[in-house]
Amino acid sequence: MILPITQYGNPVLRVQCAPVEQVDDSLKQLVADMLETMYEANGIGLAAPQVGHNIRLVVIDIPEDEEEEDAEPEMATVNGEVKPIRDIMPLVFINPTIEPYGKQFLFTEGCLSVRNIRANVARPDHVKATLPQLDGSVLEVDCGGLLARCLQHECDHLNGYLFVDRVSSAAKITLKKKLKRLAEGY
Ligand code: NI
Repeated sequence: MILPITQYGNPVLRVQCAPVEQVDDSLKQLVADMLETMYEANGIGLAAPQVGHNIRLVVIDIPEDEEEEDAEPEMATVNGEVKPIRDIMPLVFINPTIEPYGKQFLFTEGCLSVRNIRANVARPDHVKATLPQLDGSVLEVDCGGLLARCLQHECDHLNGYLFVDRVSSAAKITLKKKLKRLAEGY
């Protein structure tokens, strides 16, 4: 089922989310619905507060680069083994811990909960992440690239942060009116 995506201005996006305590049928259904909702919206990541649930649950699916046929696949170290990130997609996890590291890297972000705004955000270019799975196993991921970016963006959602909070102060001034309009209309 496709769920409505909560929009900027909705207080549900500003909450420190609670850990997932139990993986039951209703949680599994929510995961299936979140994946369907994300694909329908052409997103690459979706966090539970974006569909109105203040719990620490995220889905991610980073597609392979279709434009450049001979592009190198994006790689990550997963439980000690280097592999293409496509091998762990779609990536579903609960109660993550992430440790960003490396150089600050400027990259343009957008968000399904912040319509029509894209902006440059500086974040470390690598992440070490512990990602508990629904089946009780754990993925230990060490990555750069789009996955590192996406993990930081999605985990921010679990703490009530949005990418527009992390833009430069100059960009904040530029975005102020647009954001005010979004907040009024959500
Ligand atoms: Ni987002």
